[in-house]
Amino acid sequence: MEAASYQQSAADGSFVTADKTLLEDALLALSLGKNLLLRGPTGSGKTKLAQSLAEKLKLPMESINCSVDLDAESLLGFKTLQLNEGLTEVTYVEGPVVRAMREGHLLYIDEINMARPETLPILNGVLDYRRQLTNPFTAQTVEAHRRFRVIAAINEGYVGTVPMNEALKNRFVVLDIPYLTGEALAELLQAQSQLKDTALIHQFVRFSADLIRATKVGELSEEAASIRALLDACDFAAYIPPLRAIARAVAAKLTDEREQQVVMNLAETYFASHTKGVTP
Ligand SMILES: Nc1ncnc2c1ncn2[C@@H]1O[C@H](COP(=O)(O)OP(=O)(O)O)[C@@H](O)[C@H]1O
Ligand SMILES: [Mg+2]
Repeated sequence: MEAASYQQSAADGSFVTADKTLLEDALLALSLGKNLLLRGPTGSGKTKLAQSLAEKLKLPMESINCSVDLDAESLLGFKTLQLNEGLTEVTYVEGPVVRAMREGHLLYIDEINMARPETLPILNGVLDYRRQLTNPFTAQTVEAHRRFRVIAAINEGYVGTVPMNEALKNRFVVLDIPYLTGEALAELLQAQSQLKDTALIHQFVRFSADLIRATKVGELSEEAASIRALLDACDFAAYIPPLRAIARAVAAKLTDEREQQVVMNLAETYFASHTKGVTP
């Protein structure tokens, strides 16, 4: 019953979880009009979950990717000069926040802790009970449509990540999104990768558990355990030996040579017998 339910969502490419409460509580938070913060390491399915929620709620999604370059214009829009019947006019081009508020879309703010601290307070009024914003580019007040919702994603608590501003975090309900493990992960790999060999898939699941453990004790940086990289490795392993697949899809992404070696040492404990006759 449980296996069947995530099998179905794995097959149609939506978010997979062994913890049913995750989806239930995410939907509950959004239907209560709350802003949702998805917290988890890179490649744990945060964006996938936001997309699945948007689909379930039938809301178009507007995305913002935060970085130090994010500024008021990339959130709210900008003014530009346009030629209209020989005359130059100043027109305003709407940004994703204003469009989502006006149209009642889902606003997805990715890597919210990567923005400079002074940029996001623009959104404070949007994210609390006021649900409104004074647009500095038009001097108009924008009121959010009743269907307007916000989901943000954050990768926090891992080595090298920045904590999120508390006043901002206060405006969200927080859901932790851990890496998928065990049978649910096997279902995902089976459904979403090219690899169909069940025994091999289960070895990848055990290998993934080792990678996660190594990231938790700081032996590996967290992207080493990304499900995205694991899916790439499984795709490769449908055609080339698994050790070579892992070298390309997982180890090569890491900048630290010592970390690459840690990944390959772990991989060898599971896949060494698959290397016969192969030059990596
Ligand atoms: N729980 C999950 N359910 C479905 N797909 C997942 C899950 N976790 C990871 N993936 C897959 O791994 C890749 C990375 O997921 P993504 O949502 O982009 O991660 P994040 O946003 O947390 O970095 C995607 O291809 C996605 O399909
Ligand atoms: Mg993402």
